[in-house]
Amino acid sequence: MNEASSQAAPRWQLPAGAQLLDEPGPKGGNILLRLGDAVLKLYRSRGNAWYEALRSVLVRIFERKRGITPWARHRTERRSLALWEREGFEVPRRLQRPLPRGLAPPGLWLEFCPGPTLSQLLEEQEHERVRLAEELGRRLQPRHRRALALREPLLLMEHATTNHIFIDGDRWVSFDLENGYCPGFPVLDGLVYELSSFLRALAKRTGDQADAALRAFVRGYNDPLLLEQVCARGLDSESVLHRLRRWSDQRRRESLSKTAMLVGLRQLLALPTAHQ
Ligand SMILES: Nc1ncnc2c1ncn2[C@@H]1O[C@H](COP(=O)(O)OP(=O)(O)O)[C@@H](O)[C@H]1O
Ligand SMILES: [Mg+2]
Repeated sequence: MNEASSQAAPRWQLPAGAQLLDEPGPKGGNILLRLGDAVLKLYRSRGNAWYEALRSVLVRIFERKRGITPWARHRTERRSLALWEREGFEVPRRLQRPLPRGLAPPGLWLEFCPGPTLSQLLEEQEHERVRLAEELGRRLQPRHRRALALREPLLLMEHATTNHIFIDGDRWVSFDLENGYCPGFPVLDGLVYELSSFLRALAKRTGDQADAALRAFVRGYNDPLLLEQVCARGLDSESVLHRLRRWSDQRRRESLSKTAMLVGLRQLLALPTAHQ
């Protein structure tokens, strides 16, 4: 099937009993529906489908990310979910159901996760922030080590944010894995992006407890050697991508840029008390 033309116009009809969880913006985008205990994720173009197909090729070549067309994102999400599940990392369970009539592929059925997200908990429960930060570190480290051991960049979260983790008691479910890196992408580079993105999301949501949250995260992660390697890669690497990111962060002068997060992390790791 021609991927671009099949996604030309987002014509769709809400099935009976369905609740819209996330609707496309004015330029399009995915449609998320809840039907009872299941969620249907319908992958759609964000803007012009042909332009997206062209960008998809460029992103593959220059950023070494898997394609961004709806069919490519659908494929990546299915692969990632299967891999994460096989390796014992919590993701929404996939359900085998046909698409309702009138809804065009690509679509994926998932279990409905009631939430809340980690972002919601961090924002609502001030007294829990430091504990949640420590728990986040504790939960991320084994997956990062496994990704390195397998040299598997698909075990990383390309769009890492505290918005993309549902918490249901002891279950921390990561979701939105539709974007990922191509095979052979260096896992350490992916870790630079994932960790700095998570630290930025934590800092944004912990306000004046941000320093304590960072210390708690490092304590929970409990792998200073790997964190130091990530800082070195992100801050010292002369590769074009890292230099570009550092340059653009510096230009924007954001206090919560990814580079700033790595600088803060490195400073903390250098303190004699950092690993306690
Ligand atoms: N399995 C799920 N259970 C409950 N809600 C979900 C589930 N998957 C997605 N959602 C809801 O839909 C929103 C968008 O889903 P997401 O996978 O992040 O799509 P997108 O790639 O378009 O960002 C989420 O922020 C969440 O509110
Ligand atoms: Mg999302």
